[in-house]
Amino acid sequence: MKKLMDMMAAELAAAFEKAGYDPEYGKVTVSNRPDLCEYQCNGAMAGAKAYKKAPFMIADDVVAQLGEDSMFSMAEVVRPGFINLKIKEDVLASYLQEMAADEKLSVSEAEAPKTIIIDYGGPNVAKPLHVGHLRSAIIGESIKRIGRFLGHKVIGDVHLGDWGLQMGLIITELKHRKPELVYFDDNFTGEYPEEAPFTISELEEIYPCASGKSKVDEEYKNEALEATHLLQQGKRGYMALWNHIMNVSVTDLKRNYSNLNVSFDLWKKESDAQPYIPDMVQMMKDKGFAYEDQGALVVDIKEETDTKEVPPCMILKSDGASLYTTTDLATIVERMKLYAPDEILYVVDKRQEMHFIQVFRCAKKTGLVKEDTKFSFLGFGTMNGKDGKPFKTRDGGVMRLENLIADIDAEMYKKIVENRSVKDLDAQKTAEIVGLSAIKYGDLSNQATKDYIFDIDRFTSFEGNTGPYILYTIVRIKSILNRFVEEGGDLTQGEIIGAVNDSEKALMRILTSFAATIESAFEEKAPHKICAYIYEVSNAFNSFYHGTKILSEEDAAQKASFIQLLQLTRKVLETCIDLLGFEAPDRM
Ligand code: ARG
Repeated sequence: MKKLMDMMAAELAAAFEKAGYDPEYGKVTVSNRPDLCEYQCNGAMAGAKAYKKAPFMIADDVVAQLGEDSMFSMAEVVRPGFINLKIKEDVLASYLQEMAADEKLSVSEAEAPKTIIIDYGGPNVAKPLHVGHLRSAIIGESIKRIGRFLGHKVIGDVHLGDWGLQMGLIITELKHRKPELVYFDDNFTGEYPEEAPFTISELEEIYPCASGKSKVDEEYKNEALEATHLLQQGKRGYMALWNHIMNVSVTDLKRNYSNLNVSFDLWKKESDAQPYIPDMVQMMKDKGFAYEDQGALVVDIKEETDTKEVPPCMILKSDGASLYTTTDLATIVERMKLYAPDEILYVVDKRQEMHFIQVFRCAKKTGLVKEDTKFSFLGFGTMNGKDGKPFKTRDGGVMRLENLIADIDAEMYKKIVENRSVKDLDAQKTAEIVGLSAIKYGDLSNQATKDYIFDIDRFTSFEGNTGPYILYTIVRIKSILNRFVEEGGDLTQGEIIGAVNDSEKALMRILTSFAATIESAFEEKAPHKICAYIYEVSNAFNSFYHGTKILSEEDAAQKASFIQLLQLTRKVLETCIDLLGFEAPDRM
């Protein structure tokens, strides 16, 4: 379906052309003077120089070409040369009618769908999920959904960190605590037990304990390094332990992510890339890309246009060990082989930007990907507490994601119960649904690259630019529609006709921007644009609602038109929040 803005622009372009000017000047934007007009065209201003004419003269010529049957109910030249526009209501109404009948609400699917891998999540096995992982999960999930809605094949990969020192630390600590376990018996040749020798809570306690010890005890640290090394060599007992650690953690991670309404297509891990390393390194050497520098193997990736120093990409350390870079490069090899993506997008903390610059350049230079394979890095900022420092627990510790969610839910519950008399059980469930919107909207409504302040009070408020406010608006629409049905109304009847007042027309106009919003949110990897949009839609709906009697409208056709407009508003809002990764309850 065509976009309304494009249809208006086409009409202006034709008018410019008929008047003897370049049709390129026929662009239309939303008015920045809503008190004067709804849309505007500034093309005459832009063309003045080229035609050596006063802009208003050009504008006059153009407006003279807009006939009676144009889309506009008003086309007015304002000095020095703006064309102020208002759209005809019946044009608007029939556009919305068509939009409502369209399964995709006027969004056209991509002409050339791409295969896109999104690498988001990035939790480290055996370490509890903390708030740092929250942003990746929330932003990545949203971009994945938007991409799919536009018809792309999007594959979400959690890319677990499972191969580093944390594994050696856990194994070492276990060995100290339970040396009698068969996993540590080098003479053991039988089958290892199926049951893990620890639970998730033990595991989560073991890691910080081991990590703490390794920081003060050199010998302990060396033991852990050795254990990591042996694991990576494939030592039988350690591999069996690693399997247990993986199973126990992954079960827990899946539960956590599902509470966030986040799901991955692939549960790949860093270790999956290990088998690709030897051949990849050999190729880099054979083709002369990699050379030895102080014992380490590196690839130069400097570019002439660099304004800051980009150090060579290290492929192997001097002891032959691989690094984070090596793993990410080998993962690219694997992804190209298994999925042949057109694009790989990484949603990771922006402090890792240099790492990704190195990885991307090295992968391109050494031919791990095709010339036109696109790499994107969406580096997100830090989630800070009210003190402006990275979000912590009250006693200064790292905030676990689970606890953060529980805090929000508790606050939401309080507000919901204060607000109305929902039955307890219902209120708890509702608090969870609304709580998730508070967290996700609070995050996504900021430009991803920026830091933001996590403010429970503000995020859980029913007023202002918040998730709960958006849900409140949806619930309000649902309840009007329910009442309409209870009173014997038929939701399928009628169609959208003109607007009864300015606020209805404003709502109608903003609804037409749905497709453009979704497209630009995807192009710019900017879910915050969808947040800004639904905030505007909600405000427009609420002022329409406050100024208009809907269910008591006596004219049947008019009432049916309201009901159709309400259903479309609801669909637009619900589709948007689904793309952001949350949903609305039936009541609040
Ligand atoms: N596990 C990493 C961390 O916690 C994030 C992984 C991001 N993805 C990647 N392909 N490097 O820092």
